Amino acid sequence: MTGEKMLKQREHWGTRAGFILAAAGSAIGLGNIWRFPYVAYENGGGAFLLPYLIALLTAGIPLLLMEYSLGHRSKASAPIAYRRLFKAAEGIGWWQVGVAVVLAAYYSVIIGWAARYAGFSITQTWADNPDGTEDFFFNRVLQISEGYWDFAWTENGTWVGGVGWPLVGIWVIVFIALFAGVRRGIEMVNRIAIPLLVVLFGILVVRAVTLEGSGAGLNAFFTPDFGALTNPTVWIAAYAQIFFSLSIGFGIMIAYASYLRRKSDLTGSALTVGFANSSFELLAGIGVFAILGYMAFQSGTPVDEQVTGSIGLAFVAFPEIVSALPWGSAFFGFLFFACLVLAGLSSLISIVQVPVAAAQDRLGWSRQKSVITIVGGIGAAAVLFMPMTNGLYVLDAADGAIENFGIALAALVSIIAVAWIARKLPQLRDHANRWSSIKLGWAWMISLGLITPLFLMYMLFQATRERFG
Ligand code: PHE
Ligand code: NA
Repeated sequence: MTGEKMLKQREHWGTRAGFILAAAGSAIGLGNIWRFPYVAYENGGGAFLLPYLIALLTAGIPLLLMEYSLGHRSKASAPIAYRRLFKAAEGIGWWQVGVAVVLAAYYSVIIGWAARYAGFSITQTWADNPDGTEDFFFNRVLQISEGYWDFAWTENGTWVGGVGWPLVGIWVIVFIALFAGVRRGIEMVNRIAIPLLVVLFGILVVRAVTLEGSGAGLNAFFTPDFGALTNPTVWIAAYAQIFFSLSIGFGIMIAYASYLRRKSDLTGSALTVGFANSSFELLAGIGVFAILGYMAFQSGTPVDEQVTGSIGLAFVAFPEIVSALPWGSAFFGFLFFACLVLAGLSSLISIVQVPVAAAQDRLGWSRQKSVITIVGGIGAAAVLFMPMTNGLYVLDAADGAIENFGIALAALVSIIAVAWIARKLPQLRDHANRWSSIKLGWAWMISLGLITPLFLMYMLFQATRERFG
């Protein structure tokens, strides 16, 4: 196989901290800031936190470890890592590559909107729109009424629509990061982006919780609706959020772990990344709901009427709040959208690395050839076609039930292949235990091999019945 030569001179992370930052950078993304608060709220508010934590501990971190161990042990990205289990399993790897390609295109468009809004925050463009921020988003930014998006649509010399140029910028950054390689590109970007993100987002949350009325928002977020616990779709939503948020089931963590040096503490890293991601997610929930509380206080309508869905929350509700801030509205608006861009970019880079690594490992392409072909291909498709299709509905559907089922199902399939068909959990456990002081034992094997798959099957069955039955 031509891949063999590549495997010998495989790239490596510079340091363990570099790997952890990159893995956390992949995990912490639009899902934390843009998706989690809304999903938590829709699925029982405070009561969602219980299924969420159970999903994190019994499925999220165990599955993260499975992917780490799989990637590190085989020193290869998803297609080869799965192929080593049994031949047909290579299909799972390629399926993940395919999902990553589609996800990357749409994910980059959302980052593009965030970049547009970072600019709009400074000019306060939406505040000049007589029909409000919702009209601004749908009819100006997305141009729904026009039926298409322009690459760059100007009106009276002002740039009002079209996400083309921000998308070009985003894909240029992705290209540079991946072209420079694992250590000098991916690791470097995350070393800068993640600490910066934490500081900027911290400032934002402090501002949010000190706003008038923030308490009401936090109450709405944390007040549990225990009735939600008996609803299978709530549990599915919790598992799907954990999987999406930790970037598992897409082959990303397999690729990232494959660049670790031989004696690496996989278990310690997985725990660090898992808790860092969830901490950031809870912080985002607190920040977003504190702000929604402020908005409810300003407008006199209750908090639950401020939540208008995942997309609306960031691009309709937020601009409105930002304009209404007593002081520093341009600054805080810019900060919020800059955080979305930073978090999104580091995740996007990790998504695109999946097909790049697969082409290097399995097709024997050089990194340069892979990056030029793949980033060029997905980037061009995103830049040329996304602005012209009505991406909002696709995004909505992608984020809805199908995606939930899709993510949970993908996780289930990979667990069944590894644990039940190839029966490799004991080997993967021993592999992780070799260089870690935290030893995986029966709890990991039973959570991952038995509880999680049986639970996912039952929940998928129940949720399917509920939705279609
Ligand atoms: N984990 C990222 C987030 O929370 C999204 C993501 C999903 C990234 C899948 C990579 C792969 O936004
Ligand atoms: Na995340």
